[in-house]
Amino acid sequence: MNDAPLLLVLDEGTTSTRAIAFDLGGGIVAQAGHALTQRYPQPGWVEHDAAEIWNHSLAALKAVVGEVGAGRIAAIGITNQRETIVFWDRATGEPLAPAIVWQDRRSADLCDRLRAEGREPAVQATTGLLLDPYFSATKIAWALENWPQVRSAADAGSLALGTVDCYLRYRLTGGRVHATDATNASRMLLMNLATCQWDEGLIDLFGIPRSALPTISDCAGDLGSTTLLGGNIAITGSIGDQQAAAVGQACLQPGMAKATYGTGIFVLAHSGATPPVSAHRLLATVAWRIAGQATYAVEGSIFIGGAAVQWLRDGLGIITASAETEALAASVPDSGGVVLIPAFAGMGAPHWRADVRGLLTGLSGGTTRAHIARATLEAMGQQTADLLDALAADGVVAAKLRVDGGMVANDWMCQDIADTLGVPVERPRVIETTALGAAMCAGVGAGLFADLTAAAAMAQPDRVFAPAITTDARGVRRENWAHAVRQALTQ
Ligand code: G3P
Repeated sequence: MNDAPLLLVLDEGTTSTRAIAFDLGGGIVAQAGHALTQRYPQPGWVEHDAAEIWNHSLAALKAVVGEVGAGRIAAIGITNQRETIVFWDRATGEPLAPAIVWQDRRSADLCDRLRAEGREPAVQATTGLLLDPYFSATKIAWALENWPQVRSAADAGSLALGTVDCYLRYRLTGGRVHATDATNASRMLLMNLATCQWDEGLIDLFGIPRSALPTISDCAGDLGSTTLLGGNIAITGSIGDQQAAAVGQACLQPGMAKATYGTGIFVLAHSGATPPVSAHRLLATVAWRIAGQATYAVEGSIFIGGAAVQWLRDGLGIITASAETEALAASVPDSGGVVLIPAFAGMGAPHWRADVRGLLTGLSGGTTRAHIARATLEAMGQQTADLLDALAADGVVAAKLRVDGGMVANDWMCQDIADTLGVPVERPRVIETTALGAAMCAGVGAGLFADLTAAAAMAQPDRVFAPAITTDARGVRRENWAHAVRQALTQ
């Protein structure tokens, strides 16, 4: 019987919850998962049911443990959709309200007001973030003002809040640990990026009840333990999903960059041991914190990536499965002049316009679903190129880009990204890189690896896509895209 140790990752993303058991070579031994219900109660609002998140998480973990045996699980790592905020009763652990999802724009007015008051430069200097509804603090302020049960729990001192990692850790430990790791904390718009402590001025500005906030922990180490899966299993890793992907891609040296193509598109470039400052509307964020020492990254966040392909399937009904886009895009020589700006939830980096919506332009009588599918995939490379341009303007020139996430199984898209960026694009063997990064953190936290560099033996490359179009052709494509972006910004 095989009794080699395994690292069990709980990967709670925007659209699904998965548990994956990795061996120490980075191989996937078992996995289970459930799709997550998306609720859109009003235009621009997106909610999850935190009870469903917890039930699915526990079920997925139990399914994997049932398959491999609790005795083989050396440790658990948690990784999660970031910024999404959960409100719960400290005594029972039961949610008090819907979880407000990172894509939700309901606090746009508050952000506008604070920006008009001239507060953004100080907020950016402290947190590395901008005044956008994406981040948790304005969502919390909205909930305290609009949901009486949240307000009264806050007044009674029974409110606990936190991002999804924090809620899962609370539930897994039976309420013994109310903590969030530094990567997730760095997305709440309440943390001083340099010290990794909550900032009292921001807590006051947003009216957050101090007692409801979690403590801030490292991403690896003794983070709690659970008795819910048989025996007592240590939780030794916790890291936000985009940072986890950077770890899983072994972006462990300054200047190394990755892009993850999931619901959205997130580019992170390692920037060393001091917080970076972006002059081009990128974010500064904690990449990981281990043994009290934070490492930082510059991030470009785009809200719609794979969600645009989902829209082709579920909204337009022009494909029946996401994988069809690969053959469809390849079936036409170009997009026939069609450009899709998939700003379905406003625009993130580098524009940060919560008010803008998507645009499909260049349609003619000859436009087919193949052209629209191709334009949708081309939007992935173009949006990535906008981020790399902003990074370069900030002085970070990525000589290559490591890509991951479910969408990069699409070879056509990977080649198109390389063509659009003009730099090589590297795809790893395990494209579930987010989960792998969380496993690496858990492995370090459990003492199975000395550090992330040693744990990087779990990460293996698969294929490199080299740019294959001329600089002129790239320039024409970039200009067509920029023209459509300008149209979207002024619609
Ligand atoms: O910041 C939001 C991000 O963490 C969501 O990631 O993979 O669920 O799209 P994903």
